[in-house]
Amino acid sequence: MIPHTVIEDLKARLDLVDVVSSYVTLQRSGSNLRGLCPFHSERSPSFTVFTGGDPHFYCFGCGAGGDVVSFIMRIENLDYPAAIEFLAKRAGVTLPESAGEQERGVGRKRILEMNVCAARFFRDMLEDPSVGRPGRDYIEERQLPRAIVRRFGLGYAPDSFGMLHDHLKKNGFTDEEMTVGYCCGVSRKSGKPYDLFRGRLMIPIIDVTGAIIAFGGRILGDPQPDKNGNKPPKYLNSSDTPAFKKGRSVFALNFAKSKCEERLILCEGYMDVIMLHAAGFENAVASLGTAFTAEHARLMKKYTSHVVIAYDSDGAGQNATNKALPILAEAGVDARVLSMQGAKDPDEYIKKFGAAKFNEILNGSRPRFEYRLDAILAEHPIADPTEKIKASAALCAEIAQVSSSVERDIYIARAAEALSADPKSVKSDVESLIRRRRKQEKAARPGELVRAGMGLSDRVNPDFAKQPRSAHIEEALLGLLLLRREYRTLAVDGSPLEEEELPTELGRRIFSAVQAGEEAGGFDFGMLNESFTQDEVSRIMRMYGERMQLTENGPEVFTEFLRALRAENDKKRDGNADDYLYFIRKKREQNKTAP
Ligand code: CTP
Ligand code: MN
Repeated sequence: MIPHTVIEDLKARLDLVDVVSSYVTLQRSGSNLRGLCPFHSERSPSFTVFTGGDPHFYCFGCGAGGDVVSFIMRIENLDYPAAIEFLAKRAGVTLPESAGEQERGVGRKRILEMNVCAARFFRDMLEDPSVGRPGRDYIEERQLPRAIVRRFGLGYAPDSFGMLHDHLKKNGFTDEEMTVGYCCGVSRKSGKPYDLFRGRLMIPIIDVTGAIIAFGGRILGDPQPDKNGNKPPKYLNSSDTPAFKKGRSVFALNFAKSKCEERLILCEGYMDVIMLHAAGFENAVASLGTAFTAEHARLMKKYTSHVVIAYDSDGAGQNATNKALPILAEAGVDARVLSMQGAKDPDEYIKKFGAAKFNEILNGSRPRFEYRLDAILAEHPIADPTEKIKASAALCAEIAQVSSSVERDIYIARAAEALSADPKSVKSDVESLIRRRRKQEKAARPGELVRAGMGLSDRVNPDFAKQPRSAHIEEALLGLLLLRREYRTLAVDGSPLEEEELPTELGRRIFSAVQAGEEAGGFDFGMLNESFTQDEVSRIMRMYGERMQLTENGPEVFTEFLRALRAENDKKRDGNADDYLYFIRKKREQNKTAP
């Protein structure tokens, strides 16, 4: 844990409004400030910064909330210690040596150091005259120029269970660091560590700050089944470590970030990116293996507003394209789609047709609507009347998602032309879709909140639905407790609130966090970020924020809620007793009637 005093000191030097203002334009609204939420897309501001009490933010649209540390964790995609470090830098505070890392077991910093050591080892092995032969042969087979191999820091993991381990050990890294950092696994039989990457071409994954956060390793040649018929994966990637979160990293963005004002080229795989860079397209990146996420989009949006999707031309690639398009649009990125004929991916295309030809199709990449238009028409041949209706419905749905009416009119004309239909009827279809969606949105909003409040489909607090009545009371109690910490010791009918009285696991964890915080010198919302997920922190902020907006928060209110909770708990106990008595009676009756 980062010492409490450190966070307190840091937070005292940071103004939440000031920090948020570097990302969101805020306007005064009563005693608080409002702006457009950076965590979901909206047109009217529901993101609110509360300056009274403990300064915090809460979005009434998406429910994101927290203190200044949560804000930075979310918007900068950082884990807790990294967010503290980020804020310390901003505030000009020097943290005590690795404050965040000490008790966290293996820290991010150590893993990054180890990754540098491992990357050097892989590179040296690649160059080693005898050991590196298979790696060098594979590089030649894939036609990767030497300059690119060096630029990407490619290497070779020898086909050995212990060479990397021994090397890291010699350089002062512990077994624990190696396993936590995904350089080694632990043998189930012997409990000994062994190298995870063996006989692979190694690709360091480098973040925008230049840190090696993970590795991808490609098997040389095609994956061959072992004697049990199991095929090794073509690519082996580091799994999540304190230094790496999948779904957050964009491969090669460290190189591309300064070359992408005009556009980024988004590919599916490592090899596409490396090949494109070799061919002079230094603005190519990849979202690795995993599905494209909003976090990928947000990260890319920091450097450019234009992305060309160059996924594989097969069905899977096109599906992924359809999924990525709206995510990019949501993030405010103008996305286009590359159409590749005669090759399955950019790597193959460049090798077959050359860089000039690739540049041509790049310039010919189509905007989202054009791409969807073609895809929809290909799926529904409009010579058939029912297919034509389907095509028309799909196109209208596509157009209805566009927010600019000028842009919509252009697409309506295009769609009408393609369908050989009257633009007026296309327009009226689109407009009725938009009206319907607006109505639904309006209806869904409170509904969603009610549902979340009732705990139906409540992923953050799954226990809620099991006992909604007591869970509601619990939220009120915890909200009050967060607002007035002194209620922790307030005796009601002789005894203060105790953890076991709370009905949900989340509630009990919150209570014990407040307890622990108070005992450690004073609870602070910043402490939550360490042991709760961001969704949980948001929920906690909601409990707190709801109470703060009410005027009645005195001890008598707390007393009343605690009594109500205890009454519920008594009922539950009696209920169980009833069940038990019923069961016994039934059993007796059965015994009586039995012969
Ligand atoms: N991938 C992965 N694990 C696998 C297969 C794929 O992580 N077992 C990811 C890799 O990031 C890979 C991308 O998905 O680069 C695309 O996969 P694929 O199209 O199969 O690979 P290519 O990039 O075409 O790789 P290669 O040209 O080396 O076959
Ligand atoms: Mn490929």
